[in-house]
Amino acid sequence: MKVTIIGTGYVGLTTALVLSYLNHDVSAVDKDINKLNLLQEGNCPIHEPYLQEFLDEVGYNIRFTLDIADVVPDSDLVLIAVGTPPKKSGEADTSHVETAAKEVAEVCHPDKHYTLVIKSTVPIGTNRRVAEVINDVFSQRQVKGDVSVASNPEFLQEGLALHGALYPDRIVVGANTENALNDLRRLYQPILEQTFDSPTLLPRPESYHLPPMMTTDPNSAEMIKYAANTFLALKISFINEIAGLCEEVRADVTEVARGIGLDSRIGHRFLRAGLGWGGSCYPKDTAALLGVATENDYEMPITEAARKVNFKQRKHIVDKLREVLKTLEGKTIGILGLSFKPNTDDVREAPSLDIIRQLVDEGAVVRAHDPVAIPNAKNAFSDHSIHFIPDVYQLPMNTDAIVLVTEWDLYHKLDLRRLAKLMKTPILIDGRNVYSPQDVINAGIHYIGIGR
Ligand SMILES: NC(=O)c1ccc[n+]([C@@H]2O[C@H](COP(=O)([O-])OP(=O)(O)OC[C@H]3O[C@@H](n4cnc5c(N)ncnc54)[C@H](O)[C@@H]3O)[C@@H](O)[C@H]2O)c1
Repeated sequence: MKVTIIGTGYVGLTTALVLSYLNHDVSAVDKDINKLNLLQEGNCPIHEPYLQEFLDEVGYNIRFTLDIADVVPDSDLVLIAVGTPPKKSGEADTSHVETAAKEVAEVCHPDKHYTLVIKSTVPIGTNRRVAEVINDVFSQRQVKGDVSVASNPEFLQEGLALHGALYPDRIVVGANTENALNDLRRLYQPILEQTFDSPTLLPRPESYHLPPMMTTDPNSAEMIKYAANTFLALKISFINEIAGLCEEVRADVTEVARGIGLDSRIGHRFLRAGLGWGGSCYPKDTAALLGVATENDYEMPITEAARKVNFKQRKHIVDKLREVLKTLEGKTIGILGLSFKPNTDDVREAPSLDIIRQLVDEGAVVRAHDPVAIPNAKNAFSDHSIHFIPDVYQLPMNTDAIVLVTEWDLYHKLDLRRLAKLMKTPILIDGRNVYSPQDVINAGIHYIGIGR
């Protein structure tokens, strides 16, 4: 099928590459000329496992362009994957989605059928709003037009984006027309039936089952995305709340999580206590869901509490540091990990940023390491008192304490004795509970975890 994807960020680029791998005829549009230049030269603008390798393999088949008019008229399907950042009020800003839809309506052929698919995460009712935007343009153009709008929320996880796109748990489609449903079924057929040859780098997991395509109405599809992210966020916040009480009563939250996770109704995933969630989705999507609730005069105390617990974790870690060091003024703190999770360079709403800001405000000197996210973190700070250290074994130099913020694999395997020798005072706050406390203590380091 001929497909245009608007937006080449984490979602748009991954989708473009996977659809091209599945032999669709793909074009990708972005407004960011720097990103397009990189893509046209065959360079991946983001860090995501195997994305560069995929770009090398299929990127030359994709037309990357600045101009919607170049590619949309001949397409069968147009996928919108632009950002929906939070407004000051917390509500999602859908203006990029609406602009993209308007631009599509301005250039599409009046007599040809198109399915316009919203992959961006959008507040409930956006499908209807986008259909109105398109009809307004058609009225101005004095044409009837034939565009079906559908919702196809994206569930990819950064760090595992390609894996999630090739082997999803499910595909959700919200549409009111048979045309749209049929187009999306055709688009995803190779994934639904797993008829493609698995890439060598990303073999199909042995236990993988064919994913269902769940079809529903657009409002429910939009709600599914918000409800899924909010549920995952509150599962993490729940274990963090339990972790806080474990600290008071001298229980070990890692043992508690193991014990409750064995209940098949609960499961182990998303039950690791730590610094909480960040990134471009959970903070924004929980806020947007609350925005939708407020608009409808509806209270959501569980979602509110999940956010409250989450952001408290970031303060809690600084409290722990202050407690053990007596004061933060003039102290040097090492930060292991800047991205909001491992295997990505994304620092949007990352806990590291909040923690570093608090430390700097209290007069600490910060030394920070990350395997890939240093350039993005540098852009987030104008403050020159933060030292970004490219070599992880240089990080401990003169530090009064180190905080593990992001659980990169590299940090699991650190030579803790080597670390201890370089630190001024050997104190490690394990913000993700990745180490065995005994191993850290054996290396001569004072260990502080979360809820243990
Ligand atoms: N990142 C994730 O893990 C993830 C997962 C699921 C859903 N989502 C949702 O998907 C959407 C996209 O997220 P992302 O992380 O890929 O965003 P992103 O910020 O990485 O990328 C968005 C891209 O859209 C481009 N853009 C904006 N307006 C445009 C326009 N009118 N025409 C062409 N290009 C335009 C931007 O230049 C940018 O490159 C968001 O709604 C997000 O909530 C993201």
